[in-house]
Amino acid sequence: MDKIIINGGKKLKGTVKISGSKNSALPILFATLLTDDKCKITNVPTLADIKTTIDFLNFIGKPSTKKTNVVTTGISSKLASVAPYDLVRKMRASVLVMGPLLARLGKVDVSLPGGCAIGARPIDIHLDAFKQMGANIELKEGYIKMSAPKGLKGCDIELRFASVGATENILLASVLAKGTTRIINAAKEPEIEDLADVLNKMGAKITGAGTKIITVEGVDKLKGFTHSVIPDRIETATYMIAAAITKGDITLLNTNPNHIKVIIDKLIEAGLSVKVFGDTITAKWVKELKPVNIKTEIYPGFPTDVQAQWMALMATVNGNSIIEETVFENRFLHVGELQRFGANLQIEGKTVYVTGVKKFSGAPVMVSDLRAGAALVLAGLFAEGQSKILRIYHLDRGYERLEKKFTKLGANIKRIK
Ligand code: EPZ
Repeated sequence: MDKIIINGGKKLKGTVKISGSKNSALPILFATLLTDDKCKITNVPTLADIKTTIDFLNFIGKPSTKKTNVVTTGISSKLASVAPYDLVRKMRASVLVMGPLLARLGKVDVSLPGGCAIGARPIDIHLDAFKQMGANIELKEGYIKMSAPKGLKGCDIELRFASVGATENILLASVLAKGTTRIINAAKEPEIEDLADVLNKMGAKITGAGTKIITVEGVDKLKGFTHSVIPDRIETATYMIAAAITKGDITLLNTNPNHIKVIIDKLIEAGLSVKVFGDTITAKWVKELKPVNIKTEIYPGFPTDVQAQWMALMATVNGNSIIEETVFENRFLHVGELQRFGANLQIEGKTVYVTGVKKFSGAPVMVSDLRAGAALVLAGLFAEGQSKILRIYHLDRGYERLEKKFTKLGANIKRIK
């Protein structure tokens, strides 16, 4: 398995181009199942999860190819209605196949996704919504077998939690349902708005995306589209924090600053100089940083996907800070690994108490999940001496050309087979 070697202590300087959003590209790729027409998606990042999804689309019968950052899906013939375990277990987002196939075929068998490192991550909210829309659901041999012989019916669906995936799955199902669907307590993430933009380009009638109530008027047919994926706000946050932790000066290109306001505000509160010019952000260390507490929340609150990276930063800042995780039940797997660098962290339930230390010493560490991996890379960039980061296949799921981008910024970082 590949690993990353970092010789830390370098101040990062220069420019980095932010890639397209993984978490926006994935639901948009699944949306192509809603039409037999050709679709063209640009600014798609080159990531393991994108490849998994393209393989999945081809398996189901939607011919799809990716050339550099452009994905085109062709005319689909007969679509299969089964999502097998070995595909779903590799990538939990595969559950987004449910909405489109239920809408188009009136049936779908999807393997239960199984848990993952950051928690059980059930899909009860998704399934309750499909039931309300008229789907019959049974659980058999690890598969969820769903059917809606009379088609799906629009209705009011109130989410008990503003789940991103559930909101996306309901959007993907309701656009071809009979009548009107209102998603109440919908997720408001930018990725939801991007998906709604695509569906409306296809001929859907969606209003309110990005707010708590999304209204969808079902239509009979959807057509192909061309769309450029929004910038990855989590990657943007990661590189701004890289400037802070290495006392560097980084210019980030191709960003959408509006999607990451809370991080910009928190970094400015900590003392980093952050300036915005259109889709460019400059993040420059100008003075010793101050500790800043965070509590992760649904959008537009502090993103759970930046919690680990923020913890790595706070662990190197003089003073005490508090980090609360409210979205996932087990998203502190990076704490043990950060302690191996010398971080002073105390877990108490859903809270970590951080006491900053002056220096980290390089260490061999293991990545448990995608964003924890980013935190370990940031810690390695700060640490004195050599760090070895193992199981970086997690990183390859969500960060395009990570070591190349950091090398260009002056980091001493290498991937070895
Ligand atoms: C999306 O996951 C993202 N993934 C995650 O990013 C992100 O952390 C998460 O949203 C929260 O922002 C993609 O977009 C592909 P949720 P998702 O449904 O949709 C519970 C990354 O690093 N829940 O909003 O799975 C769930 O267990 C990944 O890119 C239920 O209980 O997130 C979790 O505790 C990691 N029942 C919470 O809600 C359900 O039916 C948030 O889940 C659904 C969710």
